[in-house]
Amino acid sequence: MKKYAITLGFAIALGRFLYKEDKYIQVNEREIASARLPEAFDGFRIIHVSDYHNAWFGWKASNLLDKIREAEGDVILITGDIIDRRTPNLRRSRYFIRKASEILPAYFVTGNHEAHYKRWFNLKKYITKSEMENLSFSSVELARDGERINLAGMPDPWFLGDEEDPYVHLYFDKMLQHRLNGLPAGFTILMSHRPELFHIYSKYNLDLVLSGHAHGGQIRLPYLGGLYSPHQGILPRYTEGTHIKNDTALSISRGLGNSRFPFRVFNRPEIVVITLKKK
Ligand SMILES: [Fe+2]
Repeated sequence: MKKYAITLGFAIALGRFLYKEDKYIQVNEREIASARLPEAFDGFRIIHVSDYHNAWFGWKASNLLDKIREAEGDVILITGDIIDRRTPNLRRSRYFIRKASEILPAYFVTGNHEAHYKRWFNLKKYITKSEMENLSFSSVELARDGERINLAGMPDPWFLGDEEDPYVHLYFDKMLQHRLNGLPAGFTILMSHRPELFHIYSKYNLDLVLSGHAHGGQIRLPYLGGLYSPHQGILPRYTEGTHIKNDTALSISRGLGNSRFPFRVFNRPEIVVITLKKK
């Protein structure tokens, strides 16, 4: 009897732990300082949301939307996987799109789950009609007190072809180059789902890149970091935090939801709030 009570107690404690790891959103603040940043954008706050995967965060996504409201940002940037292709909940994704873009101006780029979601055309149409702007194949200028910065986007590589084909990354690189060549000189932010393509982003004159996709490595181990990420494998390099290469900062969100692996361990869902600073 005592053995059963201990087992039951352990199972309840484990269940509570995994639930908290999966549903308690952390808001992590970062700063990116640059001499290229226009004065007017000193203190500009970006709310970076990634890999929502139509996950449940309270009734009407209230836990998630409240965190976004409380962060007091200037813009919401969403870097892909707003839907989960295996367990899609179109209504939930649509609701998040509508509500998030009521809070602040919101911009989105696609992830691999959009690329493989069979009703993507439907969701894309919804985004196009909503206040949220899809920057997967375009860029905009953000204006503040008469000054401007560039915000560019890239689609997930799966939108360009079968990723098993090595030419897809070459094509992605050329497309990014072309996109950036068309922008006015100045501080530039890129939204792109994949952190493992940092070697491509850092070749260009980008100040800040926002990515997700790695889900923090799903299980985070002390000293070792994330355990596994798609497209990076075991002990992946780019799973969270800020990485610098050739004056380009890559800021990675651990994301909100899960895809194939159903749990997060020592790796709570994350919203990153980035404050831009004039150096
Ligand atoms: Fe992804």
